[in-house]
Amino acid sequence: MCGIVGIVGQTPVAPLIVDALKRLEYRGYDSAGVATIENGELARRRAEGKLVNLERRLKAEPLDGNIGIGHTRWATHGVPNETNAHPHFSNGVAIVHNGIIENFAELRQELMADGYEFTSQTDTEVVAHLIARELARGTKPIDAAHAALKRLNGAFALAIMFKGDEDLIVGARNGPPLAVGHGEGEMFLGSDAIALAPFTNSVTYLEDGDWAVVRRNEFQIYTMDRVPVERQRRQSVGTSYLVDKGNHRHFMEKEIHEQPEVISHTLAHYLDFTQGTSKPLDLPFNFADIDRLAVSACGTAYLAGLVGKYWFERHARLPVDIDVASEFRYREMPISRKSAAFFVSQSGETADTLASLRYCRKEGVPIGAIVNVRESTMARESDVVMPTLAGPEIGVASTKAFTCQLSVLAALTIRAASQRGTITAEEEKALVRSLSETPRYAAQVLKLDKQIEKVSRELASYKHVLYLGRDTNFPLAMEGALKLKEISYIHAEGYAAGELKHGPIALIDENMPVIVIAPHDRIFEKTVSNMQEVAARGGKIILITDQKGAAQATVKTLETIVLPDVPEFIAPIIYALPIQMLAYFTAVFMGTDVDQPRNLAKSVTVE
Ligand code: AGP
Repeated sequence: MCGIVGIVGQTPVAPLIVDALKRLEYRGYDSAGVATIENGELARRRAEGKLVNLERRLKAEPLDGNIGIGHTRWATHGVPNETNAHPHFSNGVAIVHNGIIENFAELRQELMADGYEFTSQTDTEVVAHLIARELARGTKPIDAAHAALKRLNGAFALAIMFKGDEDLIVGARNGPPLAVGHGEGEMFLGSDAIALAPFTNSVTYLEDGDWAVVRRNEFQIYTMDRVPVERQRRQSVGTSYLVDKGNHRHFMEKEIHEQPEVISHTLAHYLDFTQGTSKPLDLPFNFADIDRLAVSACGTAYLAGLVGKYWFERHARLPVDIDVASEFRYREMPISRKSAAFFVSQSGETADTLASLRYCRKEGVPIGAIVNVRESTMARESDVVMPTLAGPEIGVASTKAFTCQLSVLAALTIRAASQRGTITAEEEKALVRSLSETPRYAAQVLKLDKQIEKVSRELASYKHVLYLGRDTNFPLAMEGALKLKEISYIHAEGYAAGELKHGPIALIDENMPVIVIAPHDRIFEKTVSNMQEVAARGGKIILITDQKGAAQATVKTLETIVLPDVPEFIAPIIYALPIQMLAYFTAVFMGTDVDQPRNLAKSVTVE
């Protein structure tokens, strides 16, 4: 998942492109580059690593030119170095690309046979040569671009520039998002509205299979069959300000601390705290009319969905089929007409989740998107958007989006239970009241940061960590493991505590700390038994529990983190915070790049 930008402007565009790329850096940061037409020639600057390296390069060797394209990369083909950095050139053609060209190998062979020499290992360079070959055959630029596009299989968002035409950028989209930004006597292309926000808030999103001819004072979108088509022009709410870290060291730390506030905003969107009821939603179905709910997502969003499964089944008696989207999209799960489907995604652009959504669309079931980006592709392709009001989440490791996803799922559970008549009005009020307490409890837990930081220093010295939890704490155990491994690079696994004796217990010794997530609930004693099994084998336990749990946990622990006693219904939201903080502080001790961990990107728009 990369970020691409194009500007047909009135003034030198290189600094503007870099500014837009800063807003896209969350999509990938392996390398970056800018190309312009300078004194009639294609010119470019590229740099390995973060955008700051490209800025340094441009400071030393500025680029002129009022038309340009730019790119920030998450490597799919070819190591992340300058040679593989976009833009890629070929005989008067410059191109930037987000996605994967699946038939690039055969096209590469074909082009090499025609004498084209490749300077990179990327799939993208194939597209540049395809267009150049068309030009060499006498085809005009726009026709050359269209001819090349029709040869491509796979996912692509492209911006293409031509030497000799300083009033033309061709954009194309098949999968990863691409928006046209409308200016006054200038036009823009970008991977999302946030990138374009400093220039315009009037955007037109291309749909899959669209390509566009963009000039300073006109633009036209076509289907792949070259039929002119109109797409909705909308006012974007993309934030023009660059989200900053405030007085925090990292975006992740800031976003962890924003949770009481954004959870409160999110819950208020769905619950009437005065009446003690869930607010009506414009869902295209009544929960009483469906007999199953399909849920699909990836990574942390999937784990939020897994907590939701426990809630929907327990409180609304609604069976939930949930799977990670990369499996769901190919499993061809039979879905009855009396089903609905929810898709959970912070970015709303995750390719696997989008493909699963489209599978359900094809099956004819109503689709709900629980997303943090209201203008995302998932939001646009759903029957109803159920927003998480987390605000822009910049840290690659998802924190506030996760607890807001849980908040939405908890509110939807109440709605479903109420419509299905599986809870009384009084029980509904009690569940709403417990949710209304969530921000307060979250703020209390954040005050445990010093103790958690101390534990994390210990954790940073290990190579492997096991997380255990039961019931809704089992998805949290997996989330804790995911957080730790993705930002500290320590190997970690999350397991159902009851599964320990079926294999993982073989791992237990003094070199593998076990983090147990266990509020004192009705199955707490079961988890105590698991802790005794761990302690009996020299395992070191970090227990995350409450007062009662701490009093009744009859095992010696390396550390016990005592949270406030909270209503069982909201425990998964509250217990997410210490596991986020554990991962954060451990990563800080490890000295990793907390906000932009190696090999990762914020939005995975390729499969
Ligand atoms: C979360 O910490 C990870 N960065 C990752 O698992 C993420 O949750 C996953 O890629 C899904 O992203 P989405 O929510 O934007 O769809």
